[in-house]
Amino acid sequence: MFIKKQYEKPFIKRQQGGITNKFGRTTQSKIKDHIDGKNVSDLVKQYGSPLFVYSESTITKKYNELTHAFALRYPKFQPAWSYKTNYLSAICQKFHKLGSWAEVVSEMEYGMALKLGVNPQKIIFNGPFKPYDALKEAISKGSMVNIDSMDEVYDVEKIAAELGRTVNVDIRVNMALGNYMAWDRFGFNIESGVAMQAARRLLVGGKVNIRGLHCHVGTFILDPDIYRKQTEQLISFGKQLSSEFGVKIEYIDIGGGFASRNRLKNTYLATDDMTPSFNSFAEAVCDQLLAAFKPNELPLLIAETGRALIDEAGSLVATVGASKRLNNGTRAIILDAGVNLLFTAFWYDHEISPAVDRGFALEDQVIYGPLCMQIDVVHPMVKLPNMERGDHLVIHPVGAYNNTQWMQFIHLRPNVVMIGENGAVTVIREKENIDYLQRLEHLPE
Ligand SMILES: Cc1ncc(COP(=O)(O)O)c(C=O)c1O
Repeated sequence: MFIKKQYEKPFIKRQQGGITNKFGRTTQSKIKDHIDGKNVSDLVKQYGSPLFVYSESTITKKYNELTHAFALRYPKFQPAWSYKTNYLSAICQKFHKLGSWAEVVSEMEYGMALKLGVNPQKIIFNGPFKPYDALKEAISKGSMVNIDSMDEVYDVEKIAAELGRTVNVDIRVNMALGNYMAWDRFGFNIESGVAMQAARRLLVGGKVNIRGLHCHVGTFILDPDIYRKQTEQLISFGKQLSSEFGVKIEYIDIGGGFASRNRLKNTYLATDDMTPSFNSFAEAVCDQLLAAFKPNELPLLIAETGRALIDEAGSLVATVGASKRLNNGTRAIILDAGVNLLFTAFWYDHEISPAVDRGFALEDQVIYGPLCMQIDVVHPMVKLPNMERGDHLVIHPVGAYNNTQWMQFIHLRPNVVMIGENGAVTVIREKENIDYLQRLEHLPE
């Protein structure tokens, strides 16, 4: 008699431990004892631990990859360095030397760009909160200002009246992008008609010209198709403005958002398999623009790429201060760098590599930082050999959003160095000391 076997649901089983099993060997932890040719322990001996290390050659490489991908497909492409991603002066200066404009989202960042000598006309002023005086300064200096709200529409008209001339602005829009939850709190929404209403209101006043459109749909975007849809809508909205009001679209700014080669928490595939190339993002954007505009009317295409340009250029070297077994048997390592320096540990599982060879007997270990706080987890579970006190680990990629969102909390912030293309190591931000920290404080009499 035929007996039907019971159905067993397929399942994915995560393999644990550092030993060979029937599915094969586990991946070995990669030793990373050099960064751009410099020995990690020598760097720590000279500059201390923890230590942020930037690679100038990686910045150049990533910038060239981006510009090459877009320039291959579109003749008028301009990157604008997103200051909030990393506004260490040496990093911004490097991007400006490579040809980048500046994209800023506050009065402070605007001031930083001016201080670095960026031509105001090459500064893009974004953000939902622009104090009146900062907005006026940016407009009078000829910076590109992306209007975010009706209150700013009002401010811009007032500024035009005060300056006694018509002024130029661009407007930030947001839009529905299928299943992707595009950021909708910035700018004016296209589908609801609010964007058109804002443009109409600006233009009928007669004091303001609209020169371009801006849209930043979100960050760490893994699907180039989102940019295809975004560009489609920007083109169509721009065409509407041209036909109804005779607006000439000089800029299309697609914002930032390209994913870097970091690993988002709870993702399974290797980052190389998940992260689209600059070519695929460029492909999604450029063809449509070329087809939509006459050759002599092609708008300047701006990308405010942040994380995808700088993440891989940054590493954080940390030192093992202690190790222990937790109650459940898990081994834990305590480092001298935690979420105070590595804000991105909240959403990435960074790659963590030993800088010294401690063998191949790997074990799942939880990596804690030095803060006396339960939340200070650098990595919830990483396979490492048993590291000894004083050993160094290299955490990578960490170049985006850490040196801007780091906290001076419980510990002082460490040195940041850059390894130059010529091999020279420069301290680009000195480690803090207590005097620096308390310089602005006053004790009452
Ligand atoms: C307006 C704007 N432009 C550019 C960026 C840079 O984004 P990313 O680092 O994801 O490329 C951001 C970041 O959120 C942004 O808000």
